[in-house]
Amino acid sequence: MTQSEKIAKYEEIVPQIEALVSGVEYGISSLANIAAVIHRNMNFFWTGFYVVDGDFLLLGPFQGDAACIRIPKGKGVCGSAWAQGNTIVVKDVEEFPGHIACSSLSKSEIVVPVFSNSGNITAVLDIDSDTLATFDDVDKKYLEKIVETLKGYERFV
Ligand code: SME
Repeated sequence: MTQSEKIAKYEEIVPQIEALVSGVEYGISSLANIAAVIHRNMNFFWTGFYVVDGDFLLLGPFQGDAACIRIPKGKGVCGSAWAQGNTIVVKDVEEFPGHIACSSLSKSEIVVPVFSNSGNITAVLDIDSDTLATFDDVDKKYLEKIVETLKGYERFV
């Protein structure tokens, strides 16, 4: 996918996702639909959510291969994005100290924290690619916009 095709795809799916999430009470349903729409349209290797439960992230709705179930705060890319409260883009997972390898095929990754209206992190969106350096500022911008649709949920578990 070229950079302009990627931007066009994101422009197409953002309003779809906003419509899908609007008025949905059960947060897990929204996580499931968002993972499905991103995964199908962007052709990523793995697309899913980990939801916050105490000091751990638990595997939530996802598309792709079976994955690690429980990640402590501060561990791996997911736990680090949660602890730091910001998006982490990893061009090469082998160069990220403490990266948690759920699949040996995963080569690059982006993790975006999901904030609620009260400013708490309720989940993280984790996307993996089987090629190096897949994610950049364009992905960061659009994925951060996508997770804003989840602000209305104060918790998922
Ligand atoms: N690689 C992640 C773990 C989750 S899997 O990629 C689905 C991490 O280091 O946090």
